[in-house]
Amino acid sequence: MLISLKEALAYGEENNCGIAAINTPTFEMLVAAINVAERFDVPLILAHAEVHDPVNSIENIGSAMVALAKRSSAKLVVHVDHGESIEFIKRGFEVGFNSAMYDGSRLPYEENLAITKEAVKLAKQYDANVEAELGVMPGREDGKDSTTGIGDRALYTDPQLAADFVSRTGVDALACSFGTVHGLYKAEPKLDYDLIVELRKATGVPIVMHGGSGLATEEYRSCISRGVQKINYYTYADKAALEGVKKFLADEPDTYVMAPVTVAAQEAVERDLSELVKCLYNKN
Ligand code: 13P
Repeated sequence: MLISLKEALAYGEENNCGIAAINTPTFEMLVAAINVAERFDVPLILAHAEVHDPVNSIENIGSAMVALAKRSSAKLVVHVDHGESIEFIKRGFEVGFNSAMYDGSRLPYEENLAITKEAVKLAKQYDANVEAELGVMPGREDGKDSTTGIGDRALYTDPQLAADFVSRTGVDALACSFGTVHGLYKAEPKLDYDLIVELRKATGVPIVMHGGSGLATEEYRSCISRGVQKINYYTYADKAALEGVKKFLADEPDTYVMAPVTVAAQEAVERDLSELVKCLYNKN
């Protein structure tokens, strides 16, 4: 069933857990994410990033996301991730998404703020919620380099600006830079836990972690207990899919059809996401 981002985040706060937001650009990832949410009976966010639109358009995979979310027994949010234009976010809402992130983090502050306000206004017409981003996070969901910027505190989110930004835009959650990066870590992550506490207190809204792949259990738990209630996760799940496929092809070199390969990918994602869910929702 569909629930709102606000409801999912409230569940996270009440239960001291981080709600997983999984990018599902392929059907295998989508079905795997829903199966895991149902198996563990936890709310989860299905996300489609603008950068993944060339893989599957939001009208194609997004329609499947909305339809399967509505049909599922799990509580699911369907969310536009890293929308870089109002037009893309609107395409998501038209398909039935009930939540969106506008990412203007690379724009000058006032410009980011102005377009985020537009996103909030648009979302109201669709009864949807909005996340925005302040601060700069290295790397993206397209598998491009994330080496530069690890541990560069000049890129981290400033709590005073964050408070101003949230009160002037009315966003429901704020993605902040406090030490994670998108994609694979090529150096040890350096998380600033005190900054999370400051950001949560200053903004009054749940803090979102982007670049959720590759942290240790204690790192996730420490972030959650300080106010991170949404954890965006993609790279390791998709990496697991590829590894599952490689193993399948090595074990079954005579395979000449594609369907069993997709099953191997889905099962590998389910295994990966099961471990994540156990950790984020305290399900051990
Ligand atoms: P990772 O790909 O590093 O898990 O980050 C995902 C993300 O932040 C999506 O917005």
